[in-house]
Amino acid sequence: MSEDADLTGRVAVVTGGASGIGRATCLLLARRGARVAVVDLDRDGGAAVATEIAAEGGEALFFPADVSRSEDCGSVVGETERALGPIGVLVNAAGVIHRGSALETTDEDWERLMAVNVGAAFRMARAVLPGMIARGRGAVVNVASGWGLVGGPRAAAYCASKGAVVQLTRALAIDHGPDGVRVTCVCPGDTDTPMLRQEARELGEDEAAFLAGAADRPLGRVGCPEEVAEAIAWLAGEGASFVTGTCLVVDGGGLA
Ligand SMILES: NC(=O)c1ccc[n+]([C@@H]2O[C@H](COP(=O)([O-])OP(=O)(O)OC[C@H]3O[C@@H](n4cnc5c(N)ncnc54)[C@H](O)[C@@H]3O)[C@@H](O)[C@H]2O)c1
Repeated sequence: MSEDADLTGRVAVVTGGASGIGRATCLLLARRGARVAVVDLDRDGGAAVATEIAAEGGEALFFPADVSRSEDCGSVVGETERALGPIGVLVNAAGVIHRGSALETTDEDWERLMAVNVGAAFRMARAVLPGMIARGRGAVVNVASGWGLVGGPRAAAYCASKGAVVQLTRALAIDHGPDGVRVTCVCPGDTDTPMLRQEARELGEDEAAFLAGAADRPLGRVGCPEEVAEAIAWLAGEGASFVTGTCLVVDGGGLA
């Protein structure tokens, strides 16, 4: 491991840490030396990730929370700082999807996607920023999507929410760069997680056929959550010390 990738002694909060990209990020950041707060709605999944990290000799605590709620975001930040120390890294990976055109999207679908995908990233950032600003140091990494940069079919609310995450990233980076806080995002392409398989079900498509279609990109396959986690860990670490306000596309060349 290069010294730049070393996160020893840093405290990282990862939302959506029970599954997929968030889970892989928790495991990787812990292997790089971070003390990790695993945050998720899913109590069993979140606790299992914290146990897995401990079994590898790392340090992690699970905090059950609904990060679309401001009260939960405030509690997670307070409890993490009391238990693990000042937060140096926030990764906003919690997310939900709904596959449908605008005509196939209810008010409830729209509000849920906005509340989790962009609302939670905003609320968690707002909760960690005062401490990071006081210490003059911090890194926030948002998990947006390739569909935050280009549109996609039957995903109106999802594309809108992810475009908003990209713009939130840029605006936060501008406001808090002078405070020593870097804010970046990753834009993954199709990545093999429970969410991707849920999309196949929502579209009424055969799962294997859907995954094969998603592999149609220059590298000829979908991504693994671990590959997205590598990009997140780099953005969170000192190797990215001059990187802020940027979107790192991790998609096997799909957008190319
Ligand atoms: N899988 C892909 O192909 C893909 C592609 C681009 C972007 N993304 C984004 O990556 C992120 C992670 O997705 P994933 O594929 O790992 O999905 P996933 O479904 O495996 O994991 C998402 C996690 O977020 C948690 N979560 C949802 N709502 C929450 C809330 N209100 N509070 C706390 N936790 C909550 C879920 O319980 C789950 O553990 C999401 O933001 C997603 O939009 C995924």
